[in-house]
Amino acid sequence: MSQLVVMGNTSLKGEIKASGSKNSVLPILAATVMIEEPVVIKNVPELRDVQTMISILQQIGKTVSFENETVTVMPGEILVGNVPYELVKKMRASFNIIGPLAMICGWAKVGKPGGCNIGQRPVDFHLKGLEAFGFRITEEHGDVMAVIPNSFEKEIVYALPFPSVGATEQLMTTAALMEGSKITIENAAREPEISDLQNFLNACGAQIAGASTPTIKITGVRNLHGSEYSVIPDRIETGTYLLGTIATKGDVKIHGTRSDHLISLLSILEEMGAGIEKGQDYLHAFWKGPLKPVRISSEPYPGFPTDLQPIITAVLATVEGTSVIEENVFENRFGYVDELNRMGARIKVSSSHANICGVDKLSGAEVVAPDIRAGAALVIAGLAADGETIINNVTHLFRGYERFQEKLRTLGAKITFYPDEE
Ligand code: UD1
Repeated sequence: MSQLVVMGNTSLKGEIKASGSKNSVLPILAATVMIEEPVVIKNVPELRDVQTMISILQQIGKTVSFENETVTVMPGEILVGNVPYELVKKMRASFNIIGPLAMICGWAKVGKPGGCNIGQRPVDFHLKGLEAFGFRITEEHGDVMAVIPNSFEKEIVYALPFPSVGATEQLMTTAALMEGSKITIENAAREPEISDLQNFLNACGAQIAGASTPTIKITGVRNLHGSEYSVIPDRIETGTYLLGTIATKGDVKIHGTRSDHLISLLSILEEMGAGIEKGQDYLHAFWKGPLKPVRISSEPYPGFPTDLQPIITAVLATVEGTSVIEENVFENRFGYVDELNRMGARIKVSSSHANICGVDKLSGAEVVAPDIRAGAALVIAGLAADGETIINNVTHLFRGYERFQEKLRTLGAKITFYPDEE
């Protein structure tokens, strides 16, 4: 099993640059399936999930290159409407390809994603939305088959039962090419990555308005043209380093960030008593004395991001007093708590709540990372703890954090990676 070994009692100090957003670039890459001209995407992070999406594009016939943070997607000669489960199981966001691929091929067959470590994560909203668009959806042998209708209704309104990020992106992208149809998506997710996808698609000739509000309106167009586009910075990566700074009583400046995408985290950090300076395109976090406990509930954007929930828990583990975290997006996102408790944290979970009773110091231990963000939380806990922490199963981390060890080492961390022996 791959491992990271982290030396404790380290304060993160220095300056780094934010990477491009993983959660923006994945749906943008999925959307390139619908564009039969060259597309150039800049500020792309070098991550396993990005490689997986590139492999899918190549599998269906696109020619893709990736160098110097730039992905170029060239139109391929043949498009195959079939994405095997082998690729979908590596990353759930692969499922975002089903609508766009069906729009190009007339049909698409994509492996249905299974559950994962943070919850069941069904794709029913994606499928109900596509059905509302007139698609015929069937399931067989673990695959979902989507077939486009002969023509689309002139007016289509679909209200999502919950503002799902992935379903909003899937439906918005698919609708962009539904010529002759005006589509309204209600109760849409409002994450900055949705606006980024809208801006990308509009740069390619789509007619979409309303991203970042609950109602997105799309007028389907005949085709999309190529363009050059740069993705937004990764707010979850920035949030992780800000929280790592505070947990380790450090002082870090992150360049190339968007503070307007992190308002809920920044207000919580200020409430806790952390030092925060917001610049034009940087964020600076610094320790300015003991922190206060807080109550947080994770919510769809603009609420506190569920992806930062494990990481702020690692910080609150050593904040005197009792903090309470409520998880409202995924039903099983406290799986890492037992690992933090092995490091001396005092956290009790009951259903969707975690009560965190702050201890003076955590103590380094051997732990297992159940997913990307929980892995980052354990690394941060290890940096702040006494002694050495060994984090097993860390390949998750490389799915979501670009040059993770390099950035942490720039900030003074002593961290060593031991790859899988297999
Ligand atoms: C995206 C992010 C992920 C983040 C999450 C919530 C990407 C690649 N990933 O994941 O990092 O944690 O948003 O901010 O952008 N749901 C259903 N049926 C569906 C779809 C979703 O019940 O068809 C439920 C999920 O189980 C979950 C909730 O809706 O409980 C939110 O999920 P969703 O917003 O869709 O998350 P993802 O798009 O998978």
